[in-house]
Amino acid sequence: MKNIVGSPARGATFLKRQGEIEKIINRLQNGNNIQIAAPRRIGKTSILFYLLDNEVNNYLYAYVDTESVDNEQDFYKKILKELLKKDWLSNSSRLQTAIRTGKKFIKSLKSIQIVSGTIEFSETQTDYYEELYNLLCGLEIEKKLILLLDEFPQTIINISQVGSDGLSNATKFLQRNRELRLDPIINQNIQFIYTGSIGLNHTVAALNASSFINDLNSIEIGQLSKTEAIDLIIALSKEKKLKFSEDSINYLISKIEWLIPFYIQLILQDILFANSENSEITQLEIDKAFDSIIEARNNNHFEHYFSRLKSQFKGLELDFVLKTLADIAKNITCEKNHLFNLSVQYNVQGRFKNILEILSYDGYINNNVSQNEYRFNSPILRLWWVKNICE
Ligand SMILES: Nc1ncnc2c1ncn2[C@@H]1O[C@H](COP(=O)(O)OP(=O)(O)O)[C@@H](O)[C@H]1O
Ligand SMILES: [Mg+2]
Repeated sequence: MKNIVGSPARGATFLKRQGEIEKIINRLQNGNNIQIAAPRRIGKTSILFYLLDNEVNNYLYAYVDTESVDNEQDFYKKILKELLKKDWLSNSSRLQTAIRTGKKFIKSLKSIQIVSGTIEFSETQTDYYEELYNLLCGLEIEKKLILLLDEFPQTIINISQVGSDGLSNATKFLQRNRELRLDPIINQNIQFIYTGSIGLNHTVAALNASSFINDLNSIEIGQLSKTEAIDLIIALSKEKKLKFSEDSINYLISKIEWLIPFYIQLILQDILFANSENSEITQLEIDKAFDSIIEARNNNHFEHYFSRLKSQFKGLELDFVLKTLADIAKNITCEKNHLFNLSVQYNVQGRFKNILEILSYDGYINNNVSQNEYRFNSPILRLWWVKNICE
């Protein structure tokens, strides 16, 4: 298996996460619209690509990344354009008949052009919500269509930041999305999966608009099981035929601790680089790989964990967040009480609970071992933080 750190895993680079995929399919079968909630780099996009590429459960899928979208019309337009690229759509008998006979349904769609019998998108002045709605309602596809909407929370933030009406536009956007997915006609054939690297619940709560997403069924994607993690390590090290004893695999797993594919890829990248073909990988090589990752201040993968805090938090909130993470990183664990006292010092106690929830959701810290004690999810990130941020 090729080791491509950072980009979503696709095709042969994807380790099949059977449990997670079954969970998603199961919820879809029960008719749910879904939000996949998990920190960035857990593998959400990779899972969406797997569903898309394999037409899992014999559904039709369309994937749209809306990260750069900052207005409602562009959002619906982007989905519409993606749908029009699909063979199953252009081959749909309903659409073909409509084209042949010049039916009203097709004429009502202003953004569709028929060029020698094939359907193409055409830019026009129109309401793209209506266009998308009419297309979805008019299609009589035999299978279920699942719309995979990635980076949706970022779109909400983008919309909320444009112009003086941003906040109300963002709320209206959420409301229309809800209307669309709950529409009795749409609802029969089309289901939605929303996800993104920012928490949808927090984003929407900040707009006081939680009621517009309370119909979504939330699925949490967690770390890999130990067996899956071992499978991934072995698959990644095949390229160089590296040899791991059971002890060294266990040692590696216990050092990574938070078993998400990203950290496994990262450490394997270093091990693959530093060792020649057929090498036996012992604790020594594993320790060296960890040290070298943690040394690298200019490692974009980690730097990002630090720099994005500055766009999410401002002023005293940011100071509190940095102090909190520094204290947890240095001490390995921190009592909730201590953190609350810090929030009082920084005068952000009103947002204390919310900030800790955001840092937990975003994959920095957790209080899984004990409710009153926070620790980093990833010892690798913790050590990098101590070395490069705290010092
Ligand atoms: N199932 C998987 N198999 C192999 N690598 C994976 C898998 N899932 C994620 N990865 C790797 O983890 C990193 C993050 O994946 P991505 O799907 O972009 O996560 P997210 O969308 O949650 O931020 C990427 O480097 C990707 O290659
Ligand atoms: Mg993603």
